[in-house]
Amino acid sequence: PRCIWLTRHGESVDNIVGKIGGDAALSAKGRSYADCLSRFIKHQREENAKSQETETEASIAISHQREKTVAVWTSMLTRTKETVEQFDPKEYDIKHIRFLNEIYAGICEGLSYSQIEQLYPEEYEARRVNKLFYRYPGMGGESYLDVIQRLNPLIIEIERMTSDLLIVTHRVVLRILLGYLMDIDRSRMPDMDVHLHTLYCMEPKPHGTVVRKFRWVE
Ligand code: F6P
Repeated sequence: PRCIWLTRHGESVDNIVGKIGGDAALSAKGRSYADCLSRFIKHQREENAKSQETETEASIAISHQREKTVAVWTSMLTRTKETVEQFDPKEYDIKHIRFLNEIYAGICEGLSYSQIEQLYPEEYEARRVNKLFYRYPGMGGESYLDVIQRLNPLIIEIERMTSDLLIVTHRVVLRILLGYLMDIDRSRMPDMDVHLHTLYCMEPKPHGTVVRKFRWVE
């Protein structure tokens, strides 16, 4: 694709209290981000279409075709779905994909980091020492490596696509996708800074990916 837009969901009510995992709804601030995101992407598309219209008629045809085919992918979780609620399904091809869900924290789902440290000090320490390999205990618990694994087919699909794409996902998944597109070693992925309310525009070029970062300020 010409541009891969990547972002985490808007702030959720669990983000406010520092609980991990779960399936919380957006906070008021998170909904404002969602609003701003849909207007920003719409504006970008209009600008894009305008710049192409100044070219030949053939390229106008292409730009109209592209306008229709902006794909929007979210995870299956409420907070990412709510983040794209303002996107008109007539204008965007919206899909909810389980592979984009956040890392599943098993028995630690719904806890804060300090609760994990108190309740399961050994788990807390094991994760601190090796976050990449550490798998959360409990049914379905995942590690970064597990998430990297489940994202592989999606990465192949992203590379195949020719249309613009917006992905609204979660902290771990975003670290992995950004890391992959920026050619960052997987050992560094778990510690990457990926803030809420920040939108990345990734443009793959023959010699690497050009990255632009947009930060929402209230
Ligand atoms: O706190 C938000 C969150 O997305 C959690 O759901 C998830 O467990 C966590 O971030 C992942 O970040 P880290 O791998 O740094 O603990």
